[in-house]
Amino acid sequence: MSKNTKLSAWVEEIRTLCQPDAVRWCDGTRAEYDEMICVMLASGTARKLNDSKRPNSILVCSDPADVARVEDRTFICSKSKDAAGPTNNWHDPEEMKQSLRELFTGSMRGRTMYVIPFSMGPVGSPIAHIGVQISDSPYVVANMHIMTRVGQAVLDVLTDGDFVPCLHSVGAPLENGAADVPWPCNADNKYIVHFPETREIWSFGSGYGGNALLGKKCFALRIASAMARDEGWLAEHMLILKLTNPQGVSRYVAAAFPSACGKTNLAMMNPTVPGWKCETIGDDIAWMKFGDDGRLHAINPEAGFFGVAPGTSMKSNPNAMLTLKENCIFTNCALTPDGDVWWEEMTDDPPPRLTNWMGHEWHPHAEAHAAHPNARFTAPARQCPVIAPEWEDHNGVPISAILFGGRRATVVPLVHEARDWQHGVFIGSIMGSEKTAAATGAIGMVRRDPMAMLPFCGYNMADYWAHWLSLGQRDGVVLPKVYYVNWFRKDKDGKFLWPGFGENSRVLKWVFERCEGTADATETPIGYVPANGAMDFDGLAVPPARLEELFRIDIEGWLAETIGVRDYYRNFDDHVPQALLEELDNLKARLEAMI
Ligand code: GTP
Ligand code: SPV
Ligand code: MN
Repeated sequence: MSKNTKLSAWVEEIRTLCQPDAVRWCDGTRAEYDEMICVMLASGTARKLNDSKRPNSILVCSDPADVARVEDRTFICSKSKDAAGPTNNWHDPEEMKQSLRELFTGSMRGRTMYVIPFSMGPVGSPIAHIGVQISDSPYVVANMHIMTRVGQAVLDVLTDGDFVPCLHSVGAPLENGAADVPWPCNADNKYIVHFPETREIWSFGSGYGGNALLGKKCFALRIASAMARDEGWLAEHMLILKLTNPQGVSRYVAAAFPSACGKTNLAMMNPTVPGWKCETIGDDIAWMKFGDDGRLHAINPEAGFFGVAPGTSMKSNPNAMLTLKENCIFTNCALTPDGDVWWEEMTDDPPPRLTNWMGHEWHPHAEAHAAHPNARFTAPARQCPVIAPEWEDHNGVPISAILFGGRRATVVPLVHEARDWQHGVFIGSIMGSEKTAAATGAIGMVRRDPMAMLPFCGYNMADYWAHWLSLGQRDGVVLPKVYYVNWFRKDKDGKFLWPGFGENSRVLKWVFERCEGTADATETPIGYVPANGAMDFDGLAVPPARLEELFRIDIEGWLAETIGVRDYYRNFDDHVPQALLEELDNLKARLEAMI
């Protein structure tokens, strides 16, 4: 229970609206987590994995109609449509609340309503913020235990302060003692709704990932981005890593890549360059506020990883595999006959027999995937063997460099450096990437995804660019250097030119040495690229011709980009900052000077 009057009043209001059988205040204890697991085992939601293979872990398989974020059902309800901007689905807040109130009426009948006080960021950190999620899903409670800091300590810090109310229902009431299904949801009626002005979240109908774990994308990005604009900080879809050189000097790097484009992998990478060390601070979200030193200090607001399972292996990401050895929740993975999980590419050869994520017999020649392409693991961050000792520092870590990147088969070279902060913001604003399975919809098409925030910005994207630019106007700040990276450029046969993963440390090393002022760069129309000999290719098994293609500045391709960007900017009318239009003109002029 809480002494916060706003909180008690809100809980009472929602209890009356949703009509649950019981209300339970979550305390975040191990006993409570264990109880949630028992509830899920009893209801058939979860299945216990073999304790000798994967101690204290479960597999949960969702309804096939509820497997990823639903961007077309995600709404930003600000008073004006203009404030949400052309890239968000907008609805009038009052109208939206009215129709949602109808949906939420009685939506928790036959279920327990859980009240989950949580902190995004270390409890009490000046960079952290508090939310309270109400949910009727024990799966959500267990996941929130891993992904955030839950419990009484949060209420103790909250006292009578402000919190973000996060209302969630799977939208599947159990009338008159009706039997439950393993994965209750309301497939045809999903609403993931944000009210940035009043800082509220209402989510209905889905139990999956970012739709339901409201601390994550809904709060830490969509609502927090609006808070950050008002308060002069940044809430970003970024990993945070610590890089240490052979002399023992450390720097921190943040990187924004769209969903399923390599954040978790980069954050946990084992460098192939001898003597260099990489440690993890966060793998998905960064909150950055200015410190007294004028630098941006970042915290990871999360306490766990909700990572993409397929593709994760001892070869590609051993540190993730080691993080997953116990105390995890696996969602939509396949089940082995001996009670462990499996997913595509986890091992060189698939097991001869599996139960796939839909509960059907599967064998290696089957056409369908064994695990869903957006199958995920939920794992405590503290279990990561390369978690940085300072990952829970209340004051965050000072960021030296920001990387932007995405999946681009063509045009975008392995790495280039922005000319200055304004050019860096421009680079972020023009990012594009091929769509992945992290959200529902067609896969593979290139779409613009500025700062990897397209699905996550809680207000007009062009105003968000203006906010980024405004940081460069502040007195006494020392802003990070900005880079654009692309691990995904392909050759004519559709093969990746760059081996990626641990080899990305070669790029990080150049970035680090640029920050130190010890690595050379060459100016090109798109920005600075590594000078001859400035990037460490020692022992790299990529033939020179492929490296050349990887770094090639495709003038024609970039000119075509400028046309695409101009069209894109037009969507935002007069919200587009003049500085970015100037950057676009300058880029075009520099490119044209080359032909
Ligand atoms: P979200 O959790 O959805 O935000 O994804 P993420 O950005 O953390 O992506 P993640 O690291 O989970 O990687 C997604 C996919 O990209 C996996 O299948 C990886 O194997 C693949 N991937 C990651 N890094 C690289 C790389 O350097 N090169 C190549 N070719 N693939 C990569
Ligand atoms: C993403 O899609 O960027 C994720 C997964 O990190 S989810 O939590 O579903 O948003
Ligand atoms: Mn993500």
